Amino acid sequence: MAELVIENLQIRFPDTPQAVLDIPALRVAAGSLVAVMGPSGSGKTTLVNALSGMDHSGVGSVRWGSQDIRQLSEAGRDRWRGKHVGLVMQDFHLFSGLSALENVLLPPRFSHWRLPAALKNRAHDLLQQVGLATGHRPVDVLSRGEKQRVAIARALLNAPQIVIADEPTASLDADSGEQVGELLVTLARQHGATLVAITHDRGLARRMARCLQLEKGRIVADNPLQEEAQ
Ligand SMILES: Nc1ncnc2c1ncn2[C@@H]1O[C@H](COP(=O)(O)OP(=O)(O)OP(=O)(O)O)[C@@H](O)[C@H]1O
Ligand SMILES: [Mg+2]
Repeated sequence: MAELVIENLQIRFPDTPQAVLDIPALRVAAGSLVAVMGPSGSGKTTLVNALSGMDHSGVGSVRWGSQDIRQLSEAGRDRWRGKHVGLVMQDFHLFSGLSALENVLLPPRFSHWRLPAALKNRAHDLLQQVGLATGHRPVDVLSRGEKQRVAIARALLNAPQIVIADEPTASLDADSGEQVGELLVTLARQHGATLVAITHDRGLARRMARCLQLEKGRIVADNPLQEEAQ
C-alpha cells in the first residue's frame, strides 16, 4: 500500500532564485484520490516529477510507503517507478512509429522476453475502455486527445499502486474528458491505488476525495471534497 509522506521538500533550479516548489509537510493516505489544481507555472509538473522520481533536484524527502525515493540512485528510481507507478505525462511521451497498442505494451517489453497473453488482453481492454477501438494505427496519426488516451491506457496496464497524471483530460472535449476521468478514478479505486491527478478540470477534481491548490510552489489550500468522496 502506498502512503505518501513529503517532508521539507524544496525544489529550485539554477536560474530560479526562489524555490519553485516548497512543501514543508504533506501526507496522502494509501488509496486516496487527490486532485492538484493551480495556475500555470505554480509548480504542478514540478510536483509530478518529484513524486514520480523523474526529477531529483532540490532537498527534502518524498516517501512512498517505506521507500524514500530521493535516496535512490537514478537507475534505482527508474526501477522503482517501473514497478510501482503509472505515469501520465503532460506531453504523453509516446513512441513515434509504433501503434497505440505497441505503445501501451512497450514498458513490459523491457522486462518480458515474451509478453504474457493476459497483458496483451488487458492492453486491448484498456484501449477499448478509453474509447480507442483501433489500437493498430500509428500514434503519429492520432489526435491529441487520442494520444492522451493511449498514454492513460499505458499508465494503467500494470495495475500500478500509484497513479500520477499530469492534466489527463486537458486535450479532451467535455464528454471524453468525463469518460476518461471516470475511468482513471474507477480503475484507481478498483486497485486501491493512490491517485494524484493534476487538473484544471473541476469535474475530475470533484470525483476525487481531496483537492490541493498550488500557488507559486506552495500548497495554499487542502480541501476534502466530501460530497463526492466514497
Ligand atoms: N528544469 C527547470 N529549470 C528551470 N526552471 C524550471 C524547470 N522546470 C520548471 N521550472 C520553473 O518552475 C516553475 C513551475 O513550473 P511547472 O512546469 O511545474 O508549472 P505548472 O504548474 O506545471 O504549469 P502548467 O500549468 O503551465 O503546466 C516555472 O516557473 C518554470 O519555469
Ligand atoms: Mg505543467
